[in-house]
Amino acid sequence: MGNFVVIGTQWGDEGKGKIVDLLAEYADYVVRFQGGNNAGHTMVVNGEKFISHLVPSGILQGKTCFIGNGLVVDPEVLVGEINYLTSKGVDISPKNLRISEKAQVIMPYHKQMDLARENKKGENKIGTTGRGIGPCYEDKVSRVGIRFIDLLMPERFKQTVRTVLDEKNFQLKNYFGMETVDPEEVIAQYLGYAEILAPYIADTSVELMKGILADKKVLFEGAQGTHLDIDHGTYPFVTSSSTVSGNACCGSGVGPKDISGVIGIVKAYTTRVGAGPFPTELLDATGDYMQSKGAEFGATTGRRRRCGWLDAVILNNAVRLNGLTGLVITKMDVLGGLDTLKICTGYKYNGTVMDTFPTDLDVLAKCEPVYEELPGWSEDISTVKEFRNLPLNAKRYVQRVEELTRVPVDIVSVGPGREETIVITNPFA
Ligand code: GDP
Ligand code: IMO
Ligand code: MG
Repeated sequence: MGNFVVIGTQWGDEGKGKIVDLLAEYADYVVRFQGGNNAGHTMVVNGEKFISHLVPSGILQGKTCFIGNGLVVDPEVLVGEINYLTSKGVDISPKNLRISEKAQVIMPYHKQMDLARENKKGENKIGTTGRGIGPCYEDKVSRVGIRFIDLLMPERFKQTVRTVLDEKNFQLKNYFGMETVDPEEVIAQYLGYAEILAPYIADTSVELMKGILADKKVLFEGAQGTHLDIDHGTYPFVTSSSTVSGNACCGSGVGPKDISGVIGIVKAYTTRVGAGPFPTELLDATGDYMQSKGAEFGATTGRRRRCGWLDAVILNNAVRLNGLTGLVITKMDVLGGLDTLKICTGYKYNGTVMDTFPTDLDVLAKCEPVYEELPGWSEDISTVKEFRNLPLNAKRYVQRVEELTRVPVDIVSVGPGREETIVITNPFA
């Protein structure tokens, strides 16, 4: 068996897209199981850059891709992405892209609500991507959501939109002071998307299981990162879905016995986009160095990403929460040129040092990172293909991450390109 979950260990943008694209060579199916187009996953193949927000990152390797039931999907964005990938020569059709009939549909009022809530929060805003993710998940849990299967039942769909908008429009107009949404316009627009997407919609859990029973290998592609998880992240500065590995099962309709391992993607330093705590954040020249050398701008919103040192406290949180069996360290090349590197190994709070991540954000705000220092390297490592050829200090950095987390590092990424990678152990081998 070889079905692996790939998840982000930090606050997203760890390089999941690159690694899923790389590992997809060995898989048959690639499945997204949560989130929506808040995600932005970048793949660089033969120098050409592709960014996907909804279509799983296995599409460039010609694999069958599934959008699982756990997602919230904006059909306008999905149709746009299918066209974008097709225009770049990617083969994409109902044969290799399947959408769960149970996935939730992001409606125009979800996007309006997202922006309205953020505006209302003012300085306390979360810094969401504004894509309607939170409000769509709210409706799912409130049992007033619209699923892809509903798009295929026009009469029922019309009725639901009219009923739901009755309440939403009241809220938009009277609470947020915003424009209301015309149900008939929404219905016409969405039935148009339904027509385009109908051939892609299926019971993906059933299709996945057929494949698994036929020994197909599955890669489950996480979005966001462990510390943006709705339960385990830095609440309320989180996204609205469960980003940890356990949700690969719920969000795709596959049982845990079919998962063989969990690979955690670790950026060699830490970044965060949007508001919320970030203990190792650097508001100095070193942070700027990481930001500019790492080209740290959000793939979805283009916002500048906040940067800081690697944090072993959050990594160990991710090891525990996801049951990580292997690590991938990305963006090692970005650290080159810094004389001294730091890794946070604990948080000093009230005179003691904690090695676990506090739940209370007021406690976290008073925590001071405790660092250990490691010597850096100055060589360009982006063409290195084997671990043994890395500069000694780069090897030490990788080995220190293994020691601190007690999880083996399987892959080290040294550049954005698919080929700029050092594979130490191939999980599928
Ligand atoms: P994801 O959301 O986890 O898929 O990550 P993003 O695609 O949002 O952000 C990661 C960024 O880093 C992208 O621009 C990638 O092309 C880039 N990247 C990935 N791995 C490496 C690496 O090893 N080195 C460098 N320099 N860039 C990388
Ligand atoms: P990938 O998959 C980084 C952040 C937003 C905001 C918070 C809530 O590319 O790693 P939301 O729109 O989800 O309600 O926003 O979560 N966020 C991400 N940050 N990478 C992502 O995805 C993110 N998806 C959401 O910036 O702080
Ligand atoms: Mg991203």
